[in-house]
Amino acid sequence: MSQMPDLAELAQTYASKSPQEILKLAFERFGDDLWISFSGAEDVVLLDMAWKLNKNVRVFSLDTGRLHPETYRFIDQVREHYGIGIEILSPDSRLLEPMVKDKGLFSFYRDGHGECCGIRKIEPLRRKLSDVSAWATGQRRDQSPGTRSHVPVIEADTAFSTAARTLYKFNPLAQMGSEEVWGYIRMLELPYNSLHERGFISIGCEPCTRPVLPNQHEREGRWWWEEATQKECGLHAGNLIAKQ
Ligand code: ADX
Ligand code: SF4
Repeated sequence: MSQMPDLAELAQTYASKSPQEILKLAFERFGDDLWISFSGAEDVVLLDMAWKLNKNVRVFSLDTGRLHPETYRFIDQVREHYGIGIEILSPDSRLLEPMVKDKGLFSFYRDGHGECCGIRKIEPLRRKLSDVSAWATGQRRDQSPGTRSHVPVIEADTAFSTAARTLYKFNPLAQMGSEEVWGYIRMLELPYNSLHERGFISIGCEPCTRPVLPNQHEREGRWWWEEATQKECGLHAGNLIAKQ
């Protein structure tokens, strides 16, 4: 039976609650079947809040093979700092190797990020989520006016649910702004990705992320050669569906 028959009601009740209250609800409903997806950036805030509520919190990261060295180091630093295991998910080499052989290592600059993200991020994520009931992400509304301005705090995941099963998605930081996130990181002296000291705000794969200039929106540092309104790699494809 679904753990969230009252999804619509909960989404409304929790719309203005704190991230911790949203996480508490997620743990109450899903316990160990709730997974935190950690990208190795500012979402350390989410991980910190989750860990403080549940020391056995389960966490995964998608290792695309193209992250910055700083991000790999940071993910490991976080693992040690909290004394937790982080499940690192890798792309399927049977899909990855033919693509790279055919198109090289930088095909996304020519024909868009869809294919590469599909193989390096979406397929491993789909595999992971296939036997998970709920996941939590560090998505925030202020991260992308084009695609994230309506991110709900709790939703049925329209991209990764199947006909047989609804997957639930929690976005506890949805309403937090960048200033609040950084206030939290600094006040509690959390570890952070050293790329933030070099002008990076949003951090993804190395070839597809660059620092932004003062007053440039953080999303402009991602896939900068592509159309601004479509800057979602597919992890949160529901945001694009919801916009249509
Ligand atoms: S992305 O879709 O554009 O790459 P973004 O970098 O803004 O996403 O991160 C938003 C949230 O998506 C993160 O807080 C995290 O929950 C999840 N996420 C993004 N990249 C990864 C990753 N490599 N591994 C695990 N989770 C990720
Ligand atoms: Fe590939 Fe860039 Fe997507 Fe990373 S962000 S998976 S390198 S296209």
